[in-house]
Amino acid sequence: MTRMECRLAGWYNKNARKLPWRETSDPYLIWVSEIILQQTRVAQGLPFYYNFITKFPTVKILAEAPEDAVLKIWQGLGYYSRARNMMKAAKIIVEKYDGKFPDSIDELKKISGIGNYTAAAVGSFAFNIRIPAIDGNVRRVASRLYGLHEPIGTQASDEKISELLFQEMQPCPPALFNQAMMEIGATVCTPANPACESCPFETVCVARANNLQKLLPVKTSKKTAKEVRLDYIFLQSNSCTWLQKRPADSIWKGLYEFPNMEGSLTKNATNPFFDWFKHPEETEIMEPVTLKHQLTHQTIFATLWQFTCKEANIVEEKLKDKIKVKISEIDEFPVHRLMLKFLEKVR
Ligand code: ADE
Repeated sequence: MTRMECRLAGWYNKNARKLPWRETSDPYLIWVSEIILQQTRVAQGLPFYYNFITKFPTVKILAEAPEDAVLKIWQGLGYYSRARNMMKAAKIIVEKYDGKFPDSIDELKKISGIGNYTAAAVGSFAFNIRIPAIDGNVRRVASRLYGLHEPIGTQASDEKISELLFQEMQPCPPALFNQAMMEIGATVCTPANPACESCPFETVCVARANNLQKLLPVKTSKKTAKEVRLDYIFLQSNSCTWLQKRPADSIWKGLYEFPNMEGSLTKNATNPFFDWFKHPEETEIMEPVTLKHQLTHQTIFATLWQFTCKEANIVEEKLKDKIKVKISEIDEFPVHRLMLKFLEKVR
């Protein structure tokens, strides 16, 4: 009997995009790329990846970096807890593992922010460990390939996919197999209108044979996002404004933003900031701007109120715990994406 051939090797070598993290076996670079790619698509992720590894080329340099510098590079990617977890992980790797990523799945999973997927990706790409890496794209490919009708994303479904793909990957080099599965998910087996005629699984795919591509994968029903209203104040006085740092127990922790308060969605559009001024009649007020900002579990309706006045007109109490900054220097602070949208509007 002839040994089974890797179905994906020819396809991958001919069709896969050349990406910088595919040209290395350095676990640090691979880990950085995987965390960024959990956050965004390849095209948007590439500049973040280059900026990150230029600024923090080794795990030791990352471990010693100030939090603000890391958040600044992460700015715009969202989900800042990932960046914070990377700093924690870097410190653990330096202190506990002598600056070297451990070469076992169990040890990798002990590190902050490294779960099943990241451990499998780093383990297979850097150390050639034979284990399927299962992310959203790979779940979709597997559910179509094997005709799985259970909802994807549950632990039971991931275990089943893992067993099936573990069999599938036997004839293949592990790194090639996992990269190829991700590539198929990103470029061929897309959510709508998959390009089945270009797929290396075309002749064996259950969904293709039975025309189930539109029905698979089955998704678990999602909770609807909570709606929140926030009122922000952009206060200008003499080319300066005021920022505050998000507290440790909130979303966007550690990032900077204009002072704000949470309001009620039913509230009418009266200005919530009038009591910031000793003489409101001496304050210039601009038309407020309201933006909708979607997070995973929240839909934020954020209104930016813009005022210009003399500093002596501002109630001192309101500026307590705020940081006075030159408007031209706001870019030096790490801010969240909603702030970036506001800054675009006011510049
Ligand atoms: N998405 C997640 N990991 C990836 C990788 N290594 N290459 C391309 N896309 C990815």
